[in-house]
Amino acid sequence: MELLKQKIMKEGIVLSGQVLKVDSFLNHQMDPQLMMEMGREFARRFANEGVNRILTIESSGIAPAIMTALVMEVPMIFARKQKSLTLRDDIYVQEVFSFTKQEKNEITIAKKFIKPGDRVLIIDDFLAHGEAAFGLARIAEQAGAVVAGIGIVIEKSFQQGADKLSAAGYRVESLARIASLDNNEVRFVEE
Ligand code: G4P
Repeated sequence: MELLKQKIMKEGIVLSGQVLKVDSFLNHQMDPQLMMEMGREFARRFANEGVNRILTIESSGIAPAIMTALVMEVPMIFARKQKSLTLRDDIYVQEVFSFTKQEKNEITIAKKFIKPGDRVLIIDDFLAHGEAAFGLARIAEQAGAVVAGIGIVIEKSFQQGADKLSAAGYRVESLARIASLDNNEVRFVEE
């Protein structure tokens, strides 16, 4: 998505060879017009997948997910992150390990919001190692739902997440794909 790539080139800051800071429009301050365009683009790409639920994870996935849900006219559900949890039987729980932040989270979704037969579109802001997306997919499948696709705002293609998700049979659509962040420079995958 050209608009997003331009924004990344203009405002993205490479923190190391691995991390791109985009807090001026995605992770802290948010750009609602750009967010809306991303929602339209996800809706266009997944238009034929029969999606009836959008699934994301707090916090930065919520904005692109709600815009997509608005355009597709379906509900959006965000998984909550919790460190510890008392046992309850009305929620789905999955453990997700963040390589970037080196921390483990338990993500939870109330059972009443995903049903067998649902066709779920997973949306998230970053795809690095794929842990968050796999965690969301496992919850959807635990509920008897089908993962209709995975929509990512920024994919770091030099990490393993996208390949692992594709190998597992998921359709992954990323709006910007980064080939490398070496030498403090953003290089996109040639499409
Ligand atoms: P994964 O889910 O693909 O395996 O990614 P990973 O665990 O490595 O990433 C964990 C967190 O770090 C996620 O945020 C993810 O969005 C973020 N992240 C990963 N790579 C980058 C990057 O290059 N730049 C930025 N800005 N963020 C990155 P989170 O913990 O869910 O936080 P938030 O959604 O509350 O912001």
